[in-house]
Amino acid sequence: MVDIRELVDAKNGTQSRRIFWDREIYELEMQRIFARCWIFLTHESLIPEFGDFVVTRMGEDEVIVWRQRDGSIKAFLNNCTHRGAKLCTAEAGNSRGFSCSYHGWAFAVEGKLASVPCDSAYGPLFDRQEWGLREVPLVQSYQGFVFGCMDAGAPGLKDYLGDIAWYLDIWADVPGGIELVGPPSRSIIQANWKSPTENFIGDTYHVGWTHASVMAAVLGQAPPQTAWMSEDQGFHVTSRYGHGLGVSTAFYGPMMLVESCPELHEALAVRQAQVEQEKGPEAAKLVSGIWDGSLFPNCSYLYGANVLKVWNPMGPDKVEVMTWTIAERNMSDDLKQRLKVATHRYFGTAGMLESDDIDNFDNSANRGYVTRQGRLNCQMGLGQEREDDVFPGVLGDYMSEVAQRGFYRFYADCLASPNWQDLEEATTRWKSDLLDQ
Ligand code: FES
Ligand code: FE
Repeated sequence: MVDIRELVDAKNGTQSRRIFWDREIYELEMQRIFARCWIFLTHESLIPEFGDFVVTRMGEDEVIVWRQRDGSIKAFLNNCTHRGAKLCTAEAGNSRGFSCSYHGWAFAVEGKLASVPCDSAYGPLFDRQEWGLREVPLVQSYQGFVFGCMDAGAPGLKDYLGDIAWYLDIWADVPGGIELVGPPSRSIIQANWKSPTENFIGDTYHVGWTHASVMAAVLGQAPPQTAWMSEDQGFHVTSRYGHGLGVSTAFYGPMMLVESCPELHEALAVRQAQVEQEKGPEAAKLVSGIWDGSLFPNCSYLYGANVLKVWNPMGPDKVEVMTWTIAERNMSDDLKQRLKVATHRYFGTAGMLESDDIDNFDNSANRGYVTRQGRLNCQMGLGQEREDDVFPGVLGDYMSEVAQRGFYRFYADCLASPNWQDLEEATTRWKSDLLDQ
């Protein structure tokens, strides 16, 4: 039996190691997080035409995300309703329907069961209307990013993003919009899905240490681990539903990309002027920085390094990593392709910085009966949380683990709450709880 409240001590910033290996907890995560929260599916730019589809996962449930005749997007379980065979074996493509490889039932783009071989053999009790594909009840987009939710009682996507939508707008609400350059690279790592998510949400601490050798190779000299400690380096943010991000304003965001994509200098200057007009000078300062962020539960991004990632759980110690390049739709095709090469040089499957990180995640497997006992610590900056007049959410320093703590606070609320109504109640006082401690 799991004592959920013992798993995360939100007030003191510690977590039980059990959440990284225990199968019972993992199954609860599938039920109360991945079948309840908004899960990133794809970007509208990757399925622009009628019939375009991609196959991805919500937890371990495979789904087909499919552009409809009227331009809307639906998502269905990638599973035949007859005897449960997998329906689509491609990762992406264009189709008006799928027929199952087992007995040939065929499903149309809107999910209906369109034809059944030998259907006269079924008899009068068989009603074809009842056996369409199982549809994901909620599919919504924000700035072209498409999310699905298995729980019809969830708040809308914009409300779920909450304070973080303000930050996303800074880099995603560009004239012409954002696009993801696909197809995504895919790889499998031996780690728990929370290890990479918590890293991207706010682990400034590791950068000057884990990545010292790569930074020395790229920049000529590695900044010391203390380089991000002063107040004017930036800040981290946490929000009600566990999303968080960090913004470094001391480093030039696209420093790793400009050598092969020099046009980014100019694009950044244009964007900075736009944001200054729309949101003011303080917000504009963020445009030339580098950001790390995660949207609860398993979507991460680096603005400046222009990558978006999804960490699909495949068990307590296995993750499928999907990586896309973030580009602006109005950029030339040539620039998008150079950007794709440059971003993957650092954060693709064999990317220089990716390899550093994955090594740490792989090594955090908590194997061994005694090793798996006890607690883990993310107390950095505890008690220094604050609000700001300009920046939404609750803030901590750039060298702080405030965003990780916020992630695990909401994580525990999810596991402890049987439905969204209870989850809303559990998180009502999230801000005052953080600021009053
Ligand atoms: Fe798909 Fe039988 S399992 S048609
Ligand atoms: Fe890293």
